[in-house]
Amino acid sequence: MAEIRQLAVLGAGTMGLGIAHVSALAGYETRLFDVAPEALRKAEAQIHRNLDRGVEKGKVDADAAARAKERLAFGVDLAAAVAAADLVIEAVPESIDLKLEIFGQVVAACPAHALLASNTSGLSITEMAAATDRPDRFAGMHFFNPVHLMRLIELVRGLETAEATLAALAAVGERMGKEVVVVKESPGFVTSRINALIGNEAFRMLEAGLATPEDIDKALKLGLNHPMGPFEMVDLVGLDVRLSILRFLHRTLGDTYRPTTLMEQYVKAGRLGRKTGRGVYAYDENGRRLAGDER
Ligand SMILES: NC(=O)c1ccc[n+]([C@@H]2O[C@H](COP(=O)([O-])OP(=O)(O)OC[C@H]3O[C@@H](n4cnc5c(N)ncnc54)[C@H](O)[C@@H]3O)[C@@H](O)[C@H]2O)c1
Repeated sequence: MAEIRQLAVLGAGTMGLGIAHVSALAGYETRLFDVAPEALRKAEAQIHRNLDRGVEKGKVDADAAARAKERLAFGVDLAAAVAAADLVIEAVPESIDLKLEIFGQVVAACPAHALLASNTSGLSITEMAAATDRPDRFAGMHFFNPVHLMRLIELVRGLETAEATLAALAAVGERMGKEVVVVKESPGFVTSRINALIGNEAFRMLEAGLATPEDIDKALKLGLNHPMGPFEMVDLVGLDVRLSILRFLHRTLGDTYRPTTLMEQYVKAGRLGRKTGRGVYAYDENGRRLAGDER
């Protein structure tokens, strides 16, 4: 397998900018591509801010951060971004049609040896791989938000993914400072499936009036040592995003994942979480959570 020196990251949103950050910091020449020039401008500014904050906190060496910035290039030309890539990581929006289309363009423009990976949260790796000329060199690389702080990558094995591909991607992940687990392709992989289950059960308890949201969150944090409560988490993720994951898991894995009526109602009411100022909890304009009697 060819040595991996250059990475192309497709999509400069929340995930793409984080993947480009850890890639450049790990020493890879990194090309970040997006169709929207504005997204690239924002991504560059955000990566610089995140690197600078890492330096201020003593987590990133100042020279390493400066070199990482030099290794990054930003562009709106897909063919140019992937032309010399040894690994292409796709992080465009979660639409199978969009992902199939973009991988079609990638294989027409990238080197024959390049490995391909998708950061999809749950779409089929096998389906995307089959749309390329190299299903054995295609896998899922599921990063977590915020990418520069979260330590895990779920590597997802499609039907045709070769062991050598997984080994090469695991080595890339480790060089990025991440821990890696390998999961067979299945709805929600490990993390999204468990997280959706806990979140859904918490909503069932809320719907049944078992306890207040504050007490359910407190119980999981102090009793089970979860760093965040399930309602704090869903307000961060977005109730609309969680509902769409639950609907998919319900369809593919069965009734355990049936979304609650209460969650459906919150979404219909526009209570989508922190991003709309109100989800399970309410937030002021600075993102501070309001206490129960202020809601
Ligand atoms: N946000 C999360 O917490 C999270 C976590 C794990 C995985 N994911 C997955 O990562 C992927 C990206 O999610 P995100 O949250 O970063 O999305 P996002 O909406 O923040 O960013 C997507 C970016 O893709 C760009 N884009 C749209 N069409 C494009 C195209 N044809 N070519 C190139 N760029 C294009 C958009 O301009 C935008 O900048 C999705 O598959 C998502 O399911 C997200």
